[in-house]
Amino acid sequence: MANPSSIRRQALSDHISVFTCKGSQMHDEQLIQEAKTARQSAYAPYSNFLVGAALLSRDGRIFHGCNVENASYGLCNCAERTALFSAIAAGCKPGDFSAIAVIGDTDGPIAPCGACRQVIIELGGPELRVLLSNLKGDTHATTAAAQLPDAFYLQPSTQK
Ligand code: THU
Repeated sequence: MANPSSIRRQALSDHISVFTCKGSQMHDEQLIQEAKTARQSAYAPYSNFLVGAALLSRDGRIFHGCNVENASYGLCNCAERTALFSAIAAGCKPGDFSAIAVIGDTDGPIAPCGACRQVIIELGGPELRVLLSNLKGDTHATTAAAQLPDAFYLQPSTQK
C-alpha cells in the first residue's frame, strides 16, 4: 500500500503534472484525494459545479482531470474525460489504467454522465475500478461495466 510520501510530483510544464506512486498500490482514499486536488483546477463559470477526477495508470502514474466549460455550452468537457484524454495524449493506451476517482459537491457520491461512462468503458475497460465520491466523504466503489451495461463498442482498425 502506498504511503502518501511515496507520491512524487513531476511538473512537466505549467499545465501538466504527472504523479508517480512507485512500488506499491495506491489506496482508494488517496486517489479520491487526488481527484479533490484536481477539482481545484475546474473551470466552471457557467454551472459553478466543480468536478475533479484522478486516473491511476497500471504503472503508477496519476492523471488529473477537471471540468472545463465554455460559453458555447455544448463544448463543455467533463473531469473524467479530461483525465482520460490527458493520459492518452501522454502516450497511455486503452486498458493501461487500474482506477479512476471522481468527486463533486453532490448529495451522494457523484454519478458520471452517460458520455463519460462510454469513454470510461472504452479507454478503461469494463473491469476498471470506478471510485465515486463527494465532499462529505461518501464513496461508492464500482466498475466501468456496472456503470454502463450493454455498452457500445466498435472493433478499432489497426492504426498505422
Ligand atoms: N460534469 C463533470 O465534469 N463530470 C460529471 O460526472 C458530471 C458533470 C460537469 C460538466 C459540466 O461542466 C458541469 O459538471 C455541470 O454539468
